Amino acid sequence: MICLGIESSCDETSVALVDGTVLLGQLTFSQVDMHSVFGGVVPEMASREHLNKVAPLYQNLLRDTGIRQNQINVVAVARGPGLLGCLLVGISFAKGLCLSLNIPLVGVNHLHAHLMAPGMEQELNFPAIGLLVSGGHTSLYLINSPFDFKLLGKTLDDAAGEAFDKAAKSLNIPYPGGIFIDRFASFAQPDHKMFPRPYLDNTNLDFSFSGIKTAMVYHVRDNPGLVLQNPTETGPDFKPSEELATVCSSYNWSIADSLRIKLKRALDRHEVKEVILAGGVAANTMIRESISRLAMERKIRLIMPSIAMCTDNAAMIALYGHMLYTKGYHHSLNLEAVPRGRKIPWDYITLMRDVPTTQFKQE
Ligand code: KG4
Ligand code: ZN
Repeated sequence: MICLGIESSCDETSVALVDGTVLLGQLTFSQVDMHSVFGGVVPEMASREHLNKVAPLYQNLLRDTGIRQNQINVVAVARGPGLLGCLLVGISFAKGLCLSLNIPLVGVNHLHAHLMAPGMEQELNFPAIGLLVSGGHTSLYLINSPFDFKLLGKTLDDAAGEAFDKAAKSLNIPYPGGIFIDRFASFAQPDHKMFPRPYLDNTNLDFSFSGIKTAMVYHVRDNPGLVLQNPTETGPDFKPSEELATVCSSYNWSIADSLRIKLKRALDRHEVKEVILAGGVAANTMIRESISRLAMERKIRLIMPSIAMCTDNAAMIALYGHMLYTKGYHHSLNLEAVPRGRKIPWDYITLMRDVPTTQFKQE
């Protein structure tokens, strides 16, 4: 069964075709260069750009894969959380296709799709603990099955990716800063005393990254020499000063260790078969190493998507949409977009009598 996936929740327009767990093809247009000038995503520009790109990407995907429109069995689309105007572009395009091809529509929770993304590369076993770290979210889940996610903890303010990007902005490092901080950090050992490890003095599984972000702003204010003079010179051959590398490494370590400790806490409380690390920030070298060490200590299998599958992509939407559809879940054409900060309703239409249709999942 062939499923088309559409992703437009933030600054990547992406379309993909899967046949079960086999990726037939994917095309992604990243708007990063456009937004980097502004130091972050400009929502209205992002939705306009999705509108420009989504149809041509779809046409090119059909051409590249040799799949004909009438071979597509179902359309899956990211329905939230994300930027409302951006989501509406993908959802409208998906609805148009479903209408014209007379095929079903599946709205996909973008966060759950991130956590299921590694399922394209390896088999997932449940129950699992999912740690989702992206630009907009940092959350821990108990995943009993691909259709049963229980939120254990989430950030009370900024997401880890936001903390990376905003710290980078204060250093005049281009957007998205997380990638650059990761790269610069590789040139120095972390100073464990430079930044506090955020929000550990409690017993919960929530996160908070606004404090460490502010600590960086103050550190830069007191050390103005750290600020990059020419952010355009940060190409692959760029080598940061030792001071800048140490700041990046220390900041990265504090975030990584805070994530590790909260994940360890979750593992103490829930017996699971594996840990799934996902989201754009899961591409971070120090975070991958730190969580790998924890998994080894706990003798628990760690699932991490490849770097390409960490960032926003339509393959994960298509894969998870396919899983949902084969389980009997789909939506009607009045599927709604859910912006950031709102609960995603579990509002699937299903023919299965034992599955509730209007149960709200906590986000
Ligand atoms: O999941 P994602 O692609 O988009 C959202 O749904 O938010 O995540 C984007 C975030 C950005 O904040 C970016 O700076 C961060 O992921 N990111 C990284 C790395 N690669 C991307 N952060 C730290 N280290 C990286 N290597
Ligand atoms: Zn994402």
